[in-house]
Amino acid sequence: MISMICAVANDGVIGNKNQLPWPHLPSDMKWFSKQTKGNVVVMGRKTWHSLGSVKPLPNRINVVVSRQTQITGANAVITDNVNQNILNLQQEYPSRDIFIIGGAQLYRSTKSIIKNFYITRIYSDYPGDTYLDIEVLLEGTKMLQQKAIEASEKHPEHAFQIFQKVI
Ligand SMILES: NC(=O)c1ccc[n+]([C@@H]2O[C@H](COP(=O)([O-])OP(=O)(O)OC[C@H]3O[C@@H](n4cnc5c(N)ncnc54)[C@H](OP(=O)(O)O)[C@@H]3O)[C@@H](O)[C@H]2O)c1
Repeated sequence: MISMICAVANDGVIGNKNQLPWPHLPSDMKWFSKQTKGNVVVMGRKTWHSLGSVKPLPNRINVVVSRQTQITGANAVITDNVNQNILNLQQEYPSRDIFIIGGAQLYRSTKSIIKNFYITRIYSDYPGDTYLDIEVLLEGTKMLQQKAIEASEKHPEHAFQIFQKVI
């Protein structure tokens, strides 16, 4: 099963200057780790660089999508036939789930193969330069689960949602 995981703020903002647009949000980091640890994470080259000088996410198989063939530190690189090669990861790693972890370019181009959508909604405004139309991405899905977290002085209101494709 191919899943995607993404945090999105008001107006679809997901990135700024190749970083997350919001201040550190520990609950979201915990949620991200819980879903992806032990699994395969697939990311675009810009997201890979945003991890901080080519540092793979620990305890995960790190797969980078790029037309460049050499990406130092990644477990594997997908250079072409992106969706088919991501689907093939399921046979290569049968005991692991496959998570598309961004960014916007990769989420958009893999929409047709994603079955589960793990979305963190952050109900606040941030400046951004990378946007995702999450409602378009979620067309043809149903919500399976939602956990809302009220705002506090430490963090804005946010919610963890899981959707599944139904058509
Ligand atoms: N809020 C979140 O949950 C979240 C998650 C992840 C990232 N982000 C943010 O999103 C921003 C980066 O997103 P982005 O959209 O600019 O870049 P991206 O999707 O991370 O990376 C784009 C690059 O990946 C490769 N690529 C992606 N899709 C491809 C495809 N279908 N075929 C071939 N190559 C493909 C290309 O690399 P080459 O140019 O090397 O060929 C492309 O230039 C950053 O600000 C990051 O912090 C946010």
